[in-house]
Amino acid sequence: MASVYSIHDKLQKHSIKLLAGILAAISVGGIVEIAPLFLIENTIEKVDGMRPYTPLELAGRNIYVREGCYLCHSQQIRPLRDEVERYGPYSLAAESMYDHPFQWGSKRTGPDLARVGGKYSDAWQARHLADPRSLVPESVMPAYSFLAATPLDGARMADDLTALRRTGVPYTEAQIAAAGADFAAQASPDGAADGFAGRWPTAAARDFDGNPAQLTEMDALVAYLQMLGTLVVFPKIIPDANFNR
Ligand code: HEC
Repeated sequence: MASVYSIHDKLQKHSIKLLAGILAAISVGGIVEIAPLFLIENTIEKVDGMRPYTPLELAGRNIYVREGCYLCHSQQIRPLRDEVERYGPYSLAAESMYDHPFQWGSKRTGPDLARVGGKYSDAWQARHLADPRSLVPESVMPAYSFLAATPLDGARMADDLTALRRTGVPYTEAQIAAAGADFAAQASPDGAADGFAGRWPTAAARDFDGNPAQLTEMDALVAYLQMLGTLVVFPKIIPDANFNR
């Protein structure tokens, strides 16, 4: 019987056979590594607290994408000590499972924003966006003061939610039907009305931009920023994570 060595010897001396052998070896490895990823349910571990974005947060996220905030900010805390000490617990796959497209980013001209929610007050966020250098004199971030002067309505949010549901985000019929109303309810100074809290039990409702008279793009963007990284409660998920906020 041919020994392993003589089989190897023959393969080595015959380029086509060697190529076939290499392809066979690689495809076994490839299938073992890649096939499970197609079963996406297995790939992303379910984590308590994760929910799809509310209509107002989603509108804010759309503005975040439109303005290219991802060109200077990442939303992905890596499991490295310096990152965890600076930004908080490292990002979990589940935390971006409803992001289409994801906003991980590859450039950090400014800090990572994955856990910026609750780090500052609404007033700080609104003022910083309108005029970054009034709060951080050395900042190179552009000013977005027009956001506070641009009114926004939720007319197309039902379509947005429907589109996302087609990609797999589990919005309910009730959430889609009430998208326009919930959009306004979340930014209203009187807090949530009309069943908002029932449809979005863990969402914060308030006037986000400091101007209760008008619902603006600033309301939506600040609502989005204040939600980032707050959905999953970390000491519960990773008890020994270095949790300094
Ligand atoms: C040209 C690069 C650039 C762009 C574009 C940019 N930023 Fe920034 N951002 C920075 C820099 C630099 C800082 C740090 C200095 C500061 O706080 O202003 C920063 C800071 C921040 C902070 C404070 C983070 C913290 O933890 O202190 C937030 C929030 C923020 N940016 C949001 C945004 C949003 C939202 C957008 C899009 C509308 C945006 N940025 C666009 C560069 C940028």
